[in-house]
Amino acid sequence: MKKIGILTTGGDAPGMNAAIRAVVRTALGSGLSVTGIERGFSGLHDKAFMELDSRSVSGIINKGGTFLKTIRFPEFKEKDIRRKSYENLKEAGIEGLVVIGGDGSARGACALSGDFGFPTVLIPASIDNDLYGTDFTVGFDTAVNTAVSAIDKIRDTATSHERTFIVEVMGREKGNFAVEAAVACGAEIVMIPEVPADWHKVAEALREQAAIGKTSSIIIMAEGAGRADELTRFLQEKLPKRQIRYSVLGYIQRGGNPTYMTRVLATRFGVAAVKLLVSHEYPFMVGISGNKIVRVPLKKVVTTTRLPYLQHIDLIKSMAI
Ligand code: F6P
Repeated sequence: MKKIGILTTGGDAPGMNAAIRAVVRTALGSGLSVTGIERGFSGLHDKAFMELDSRSVSGIINKGGTFLKTIRFPEFKEKDIRRKSYENLKEAGIEGLVVIGGDGSARGACALSGDFGFPTVLIPASIDNDLYGTDFTVGFDTAVNTAVSAIDKIRDTATSHERTFIVEVMGREKGNFAVEAAVACGAEIVMIPEVPADWHKVAEALREQAAIGKTSSIIIMAEGAGRADELTRFLQEKLPKRQIRYSVLGYIQRGGNPTYMTRVLATRFGVAAVKLLVSHEYPFMVGISGNKIVRVPLKKVVTTTRLPYLQHIDLIKSMAI
């Protein structure tokens, strides 16, 4: 193997740049050249290629986002699109591919390797931490810390005004992000897509908390569990004597300089991904289990649902007394 390609795809995540840097420098150190592919699978299809050297990845370990850009590209589900992409890889002399992204990226990488046997390795990067086979995805630690910092500020005003705040966080399909932010912020209630909530029971829980003397509370709601504005209206109607407010954190959760944990994880994943390609071990996702770097068959990753931290939901309930 003499040349590999690298791309970032799906929702961006802090630490993607750190992962790119590690892949490029590990590859160069192994005598490989590296082609950067801009805008994810879309760029692969359109041959948006750029040669990368060590200087290309200087000064980016601390930068959020991805300098290779990313686009959601659902067209990649079509085999003809994947075939054209595969042909572009062959024409460019690219013999292996590192894909950096989340669950949609895993499915694209699995399809590309499955269709054509193309050597492909996935670095899991998503703020959702929604991939089977790894304790953490690149970006999750940073994004949760961003959310925690914002929710702490909301708690200041909630406490001062004796209000209940609903904070809507990211997580369209999975609730890991919401659960971890809720534990870290001492939230009284968390609502996630995997566990449909009866809003009447949420109102009852707030009544019970008031009865034990809680004068303010924080509800963390993953965007996939519903809309914070609608829940606010519902609860304000059920609890007319309480003041209910909401905040939607939105895209600040996707940006920011990566934390130490994210940078080290991204770097370890980048090194491991190149080593798998060089030793002809693919198609795999690199992951972390305990503190050990592991490899997980891509097929297993895309066919196994990552369960939310249900044990941490019990933690939230036991701490909310
Ligand atoms: O997958 C990461 C994520 O941030 C989800 O948490 C969120 O629901 C989604 O991306 C938002 O997608 P987009 O950036 O396309 O609006």
